[in-house]
Amino acid sequence: QTLGDRSLESLAHYIKDAPAWRIVVMCGAGISTAAGIPDFRSPGTGLYDNLARLNLPYAEAVFDIEYFRKHPEPFYYLAKELYPGKFHPTISHAFIALLAKKGRLLMNFTQNIDCLERRAGVPADKIVEAHGSFATQRCIECRTPFPDDDMLDHVQREVVPRCKDRSCGGLVKPDIVFFGEALPSAFRDASHLPAMADLVIVMGTSLSVYPFAGLPEYAQPHVPRLLLNKERVGRMGYRPDDVLELGPCDAGIRRLAALLGWSEELEALWRG
Ligand code: OAD
Repeated sequence: QTLGDRSLESLAHYIKDAPAWRIVVMCGAGISTAAGIPDFRSPGTGLYDNLARLNLPYAEAVFDIEYFRKHPEPFYYLAKELYPGKFHPTISHAFIALLAKKGRLLMNFTQNIDCLERRAGVPADKIVEAHGSFATQRCIECRTPFPDDDMLDHVQREVVPRCKDRSCGGLVKPDIVFFGEALPSAFRDASHLPAMADLVIVMGTSLSVYPFAGLPEYAQPHVPRLLLNKERVGRMGYRPDDVLELGPCDAGIRRLAALLGWSEELEALWRG
């Protein structure tokens, strides 16, 4: 056992005194719910429970590439609601940026497509957007990129964008990874990093979509893993050095920051 016990206090000592320099953060939609973006699977409030109005054959179809080819409209209806720009990072995002600022962030793997890690100040080379993002878009047939301002215009007017090359005319889709599509090469290129970490932090994810959900298992057996989530997920808690901080992740982050003596710095970074 690396930690004295499985408390957040012991983990804070480990970060400060060990000290942990190669921290890998793995996050999901739960870190953005406090920013006003729904997650996917929380009963009642999650996106998948609220798609009845879109008449989908099953909820995840809205992010399925084969379904999109035939029916792009439901996705574009949702895209308008989810489009980045109107949301602000949470204190949990700011904590990731603080780790980077302190030179302790080895990598932030995120499943989120909201770009809030970047907005919070996490450097681009420290983020792996495993499921892509809304930042860029292209034709799904000829792969030609589509301009950002045109995309915003289409999304706002709820008009499905099409490839500007008239001989192609294919559907344009943000570079979000849909079910049925491969993950970006950046994910593969960075997938050796969890095994090099001296601390793994898992935040706001149900760990239900692979291969992302397998990442925490790549941590070395003696390496502490911290879960900040409303519920216990995956195999978090099965190892002697797993620390579970169950509840809203912003509250857990504030508690951890206080134990580290980083509260003021964190709040200042968050307020910008
Ligand atoms: P989920 O909706 O599956 O899981 C969100 C998790 O965060 C749940 O365990 C919630 O209990 C928890 N949660 C919600 N709000 C929280 C809060 N304020 N504090 C702490 N925990 C909170 O979202 P993801 O795990 O991100 O993929 O979903 C993974 C993938 O499934 C997504 O990237 C998306 C989706 O289908 C694609 O679309 C390809």
